[in-house]
Amino acid sequence: MTTDRGQPAVRLGRAGAMPLVGLGTWQMTGARCQAAVRSALEVGYRHLDTATIYRNERDVGRAVRDSRVPREQVFVTTKLPPGNAGRERRTLTESLRALGMDYVDLWLVHWPPRARALVPTWEAMLAARDQGLARAVGVSNYSPAQLDELTAATGQVPQVNQIPWAPALHDSALLDGHRRRGVVLEGYSPFKNTDLRHPVLAEIAARHRVTPAQVVVRWHVDHEVVVIPKSAAPERIAANFDVFGFSLSEEELGRIDRL
Ligand SMILES: NC(=O)c1ccc[n+]([C@@H]2O[C@H](COP(=O)([O-])OP(=O)(O)OC[C@H]3O[C@@H](n4cnc5c(N)ncnc54)[C@H](OP(=O)(O)O)[C@@H]3O)[C@@H](O)[C@H]2O)c1
Repeated sequence: MTTDRGQPAVRLGRAGAMPLVGLGTWQMTGARCQAAVRSALEVGYRHLDTATIYRNERDVGRAVRDSRVPREQVFVTTKLPPGNAGRERRTLTESLRALGMDYVDLWLVHWPPRARALVPTWEAMLAARDQGLARAVGVSNYSPAQLDELTAATGQVPQVNQIPWAPALHDSALLDGHRRRGVVLEGYSPFKNTDLRHPVLAEIAARHRVTPAQVVVRWHVDHEVVVIPKSAAPERIAANFDVFGFSLSEEELGRIDRL
């Protein structure tokens, strides 16, 4: 599917469309983070990934307001630190206050809390969704067995699992497992886990007159895997989003899958 603005997206239940390409914001705070988010919104990004532990929710929210892009056009994700299990609602209230928003589009558990808290934390996430504070809820860094544990306990599957993903980490069984469960796979650290000088990426990039980094982002899009590259540099922010003018053939996708 696509968003209203024609960007490739996945459907996330009542939350609507989640754009496949978003901006990661880890390790950016203050003016640097605000400038990066503003520059991303200027070139067309409508999906931002933050987290309580990134300590930049205030900057992300400020940049959205300064951009004058209407709040409802931007898909905003934040994440619960698992150490805050038992204080979920208060943590989300603080995130919303920092963002200056009255809901987030997606709220994730940043990584699994201690075993005893696994299900209660998930129940608190579901309650926040029912109250309209998060349009969708999910998890991050969970195994398929942990996804199943949450579903067995509550009948509600996490809508998203955000996990490390890149050509070198490609695992079609894991991707299919998420699809079978109805969980959207959102990949993180697409570049940190990639050798951008790899000859296969270089050859395919040259064929399409793009960069290896753009090939990596496009590879996610062609697999319908959400990707959130982080950059603080306006030219790389723009390039990482400029991936809708080409697509990879089955043969190219296969070669990249095997990296
Ligand atoms: N859920 C989790 O546990 C978790 C964990 C890690 C990350 N994440 C999320 O995923 C996002 C992305 O992952 P990440 O920040 O770890 O790493 P990443 O996006 O794979 O890589 C970021 C690094 O790549 C560089 N870069 C960006 N664009 C480039 C390009 N076109 N060519 C060459 N280098 C480029 C950046 O430098 P410049 O800034 O100088 O461009 C930065 O050093 C994070 O920001 C965060 O939102 C989530």
